[in-house]
Amino acid sequence: MSEPIIVRTVADLRATTARWRAAGERVALVPTMGALHAGHISLVRLARERAERVITSIFVNPTQFAPNEDFAKYPRTFAADVEKLAAAGCDGVFAPTPDIMYPPGFVTTISLDGPAKAGLEDAFRPTHFAGVATVVAKLLIQAQPDAAIFGQKDFQQLAVIRAMARDLDLPVEIIGAPTMREADGLAMSSRNVYLSAAERAAAPTLHATLQACARAIAAGEAFEPTLADGRARIEAAGFQLDYLELRDAATLAPAEPSGDGALRLLVAARIGATRLIDNIDAPRPAKES
Ligand code: PAF
Repeated sequence: MSEPIIVRTVADLRATTARWRAAGERVALVPTMGALHAGHISLVRLARERAERVITSIFVNPTQFAPNEDFAKYPRTFAADVEKLAAAGCDGVFAPTPDIMYPPGFVTTISLDGPAKAGLEDAFRPTHFAGVATVVAKLLIQAQPDAAIFGQKDFQQLAVIRAMARDLDLPVEIIGAPTMREADGLAMSSRNVYLSAAERAAAPTLHATLQACARAIAAGEAFEPTLADGRARIEAAGFQLDYLELRDAATLAPAEPSGDGALRLLVAARIGATRLIDNIDAPRPAKES
């Protein structure tokens, strides 16, 4: 197990990835906000399969948090993160300070439409995706990776980043990685550490409800009553529901029963002070032949 190189400036990051590319090595970037868990490590492992060199960024990006959100208390575990990255075979860690990412006088923000305005996360976190897209664009331009890996757990984020990379002609392959789950189905998240024992016990209801809705839809049940049952089940488990929606997986537009595109079930709900999100594929009913 070798220690990853730790770089803190854009110049060092560029020099590091340029050296790898000059040696003919494909470079993959795994953007994170730290507090790494097995879900992040699965992104690093996928990056290892897709490139000769892997660099992980660790930056708790202030611009994607609204003033009422958890920026100040977001878990910061840098030393433990670097140990996990070393064990996963990550070659480099980019850990800039806020001043490096947003120097005095910084005035540019990426403006988004399409999947960023789908009425899901954006309806509850209206400034979030502009902050995500701006920091991800910066990271991609700074590191110039051949590929960048993002978790499907943040499904709308992945769609926003894919659209941004396409629209801005960023020469990078955006790769979505499957969600890692605890044994009881709860999607792994850095925010799970906030859950009390009782909240943690209720939390798997989100995934169980997504699965029940997906089964009903695959069996040909109507979309709206299925979602209404799912919403009631989540609220009965003690959550305040932000949304449970069935959407076109590519555009995130509301699902059309008559269409044939892939569907995605997406949920966001608050339990106590913690907001959890999750999503799964929802196969359409088999067509009669
Ligand atoms: O998914 C995350 O952890 C963040 O939104 C990201 C992509 C690292 C940007 O800050």
